[in-house]
Amino acid sequence: MSKYRIAWMPGDGIGVDVMEAARIALDKLGLDADYIHADIGWEFWCSEGEPLPQRTIDILKTCDCGLFGAITSRPKEEAALELAPELQDKGLVYSSPIVRLRQMFDLYTNLRPCKAYPGNPLNYRDDIDLVVFRENTEGLYSGVEFHPLPEGVFATLTQYNPKMSRFESVPAEDIAVSLRVITRNGAERIIRKAFEYAQQFDYPTVTLIEKPNVLRETSGLMMRVGRQVAKDFPDIDLWETNIDAQMMWLLKNPDDYGVLVTSNMFGDIVSDLAAQLVGGLGFAASGNIGDEFAVFEPTHGSAPKYEGQYKVNPHAMLLATKLMLEWLGETDMAEQLENAITAVVAEGKVRTYDMGGGNTTLEVAEAVAEKI
Ligand code: IPM
Ligand code: MG
Repeated sequence: MSKYRIAWMPGDGIGVDVMEAARIALDKLGLDADYIHADIGWEFWCSEGEPLPQRTIDILKTCDCGLFGAITSRPKEEAALELAPELQDKGLVYSSPIVRLRQMFDLYTNLRPCKAYPGNPLNYRDDIDLVVFRENTEGLYSGVEFHPLPEGVFATLTQYNPKMSRFESVPAEDIAVSLRVITRNGAERIIRKAFEYAQQFDYPTVTLIEKPNVLRETSGLMMRVGRQVAKDFPDIDLWETNIDAQMMWLLKNPDDYGVLVTSNMFGDIVSDLAAQLVGGLGFAASGNIGDEFAVFEPTHGSAPKYEGQYKVNPHAMLLATKLMLEWLGETDMAEQLENAITAVVAEGKVRTYDMGGGNTTLEVAEAVAEKI
């Protein structure tokens, strides 16, 4: 029996290409693992009406963690049109399987390191080392949404908050509401993870990014909890900032920042910006981490137009693999893999198109494997 069981979820489009790249690196490292294929993605939405089949959830429950490639997501109406004819008109509604996995397995930390590897021609600057902690299970992506707005919901909201009566004359089908749910526990655990990380890796500050001047209740709670948690880490400064201004400062003075923490949607946005500072989505990796289980993935999507062409940059997937190894406690392997990636980027000989090169996904993976 192998030491680890890893759920292997290539998903859609180029997810398949980059997962093949990950496997090249893992095999070279000699990780003692069984890789269990699990179905996920668009194909299963179209054919079964379920992009995250129960059999996949069952596999995940038997694994130490999961590695995930990418999925295609489309808005509600478009998704419904692509369903197999026998599934049409059954009222099936598409919802992102990765968002559901995060919630289902309570993978509350979305860890997104964004580090400028020396020699990467896509670096905005070479001195950037940011780590985004995105809350991964609640906030605006809780999935509590209404459209049309039921009369009872409208009435209750109006009863408890007179500001709602401003929308009284709007017909139910002309108003949509998404709830931004922030819980004390949700806020506390993500902020604590950010502080613990700062402490472990010697970052002097944690920047808590919200918008408490407008979102008085939800961002306000995040800030109050942040101050409370900060008391347990007297050596680390808590910087409280607003999301809008922070986006400007990140472009202006990225080297002022290290660990960033924020709620779900702000984190989604901040992490794409931070990724662009260090080479774009070809370098952005994520860990979706809970207390007992985790799923690692590149932050990019499935890029359907490049599907099967082995064209896209595998570094994001390889860095996600590195995060997985770290989380499993295989720190030597994680370091070997990161050093190999660093060396390949620094040499600049083997590069995919986004970095100005002409190599394939798998050639880059082979080059990384050779350095291991
Ligand atoms: C990400 C992605 C996902 C998200 C999408 C694909 C649902 O943008 O991981 O950042 O919004 O979380
Ligand atoms: Mg995103």
